[in-house]
Amino acid sequence: MKEKKDILILAIESSCDETAAAVVRNGREVLSNVIFSQIALHTLYGGVVPEIASRKHIEKINYVIQEALDRANVGLKDLDAVGVTYGPGLVGALLVGVAEAKAISYAANLPLVGVHHIEGHISANYIENKDLEPPFICLVVSGGHTHLVVVRDYGKYEVIGRTRDDAAGEAFDKVARAIGLGYPGGPKIDKLSKEGNPDAIHFPRAKVEDAPYDFSFSGVKSAVLNHINGCRMKGETLREADIAASFQKAVCDVLVSHALQAVKDYGIPKLALAGGVASNSALRQAMKDACERERIPLCYPSPALCTDNAAMIGAAAYYEYMNGTRHGLDLNAVPNLQLGER
Ligand code: KG4
Ligand code: ZN
Repeated sequence: MKEKKDILILAIESSCDETAAAVVRNGREVLSNVIFSQIALHTLYGGVVPEIASRKHIEKINYVIQEALDRANVGLKDLDAVGVTYGPGLVGALLVGVAEAKAISYAANLPLVGVHHIEGHISANYIENKDLEPPFICLVVSGGHTHLVVVRDYGKYEVIGRTRDDAAGEAFDKVARAIGLGYPGGPKIDKLSKEGNPDAIHFPRAKVEDAPYDFSFSGVKSAVLNHINGCRMKGETLREADIAASFQKAVCDVLVSHALQAVKDYGIPKLALAGGVASNSALRQAMKDACERERIPLCYPSPALCTDNAAMIGAAAYYEYMNGTRHGLDLNAVPNLQLGER
């Protein structure tokens, strides 16, 4: 099962609304990846309710961890370390995973490795792209973050662009709510867009002055809301599929152009996508087309590894572990943890 030189990591993720645990071998091989999704619960309220998320994590986490160990056919004694997301995220939700990881680390005498959630998303790319190595440029597009990152080396990140307001996923969720699709909106907009015309309505593509890699999505979101209100006031029927497809195209255009600009400017001809929005089919296609045109190698995780999961935390924890990162039992949840911060 385990070669002597193998490093087995139990990884735990509870930063938002997924309770997840995984066992990962040598950073790239997923032996198990268990996720309890709370989405159905939060859908009732139209978004994640932090208090409910924390309570549900407490209820499910032991079961999810046991399941991850069982499916990987390993016990605590086989492990080399415990990796856990300690930020950014919802503080109460993060605390559940961190407390659990500390308890296991103490009880089983295992090194504890705290992981940045975004580092996890980026590292999801290592799992299915066995040859991927830094340096590369990574576009991280999730519900909470939109970052352009230069991955200099394992565990070495330079954030060169970020959103000034809404994250890309947040904009998807808000627009979905406005057209009555419910939560979480991203996958629903993705699906509905397939029936719409992406050129039906022109929504703005925002540029941030003097910051070529920064993003702003509040303008496109407001433009969609204004369009909806305008239609309602004029008594016109809403063409939801056209709105969804046109909004999606506006967001994808900006994501593609910024990412390609970074690849060219930094002279690092390798691009990766990460985060929940990286599972968007239009974004994947647009990025693929652009990268093929420019002959830039592109990779992205399969959809299940784009949205929150613990396998990606196991991949990140492995490289942190190999770099010598160890946390003490005083590790705390850091809701606004910055990438690269220790
Ligand atoms: O990475 P993630 O699971 O959680 C965070 O770290 O935030 O991302 C969740 C976000 C949500 O906003 C969700 O609507 C969006 O990713 N998302 C998508 C798609 N699947 C998930 N957005 C657009 N298209 C999708 N197919
Ligand atoms: Zn995430």
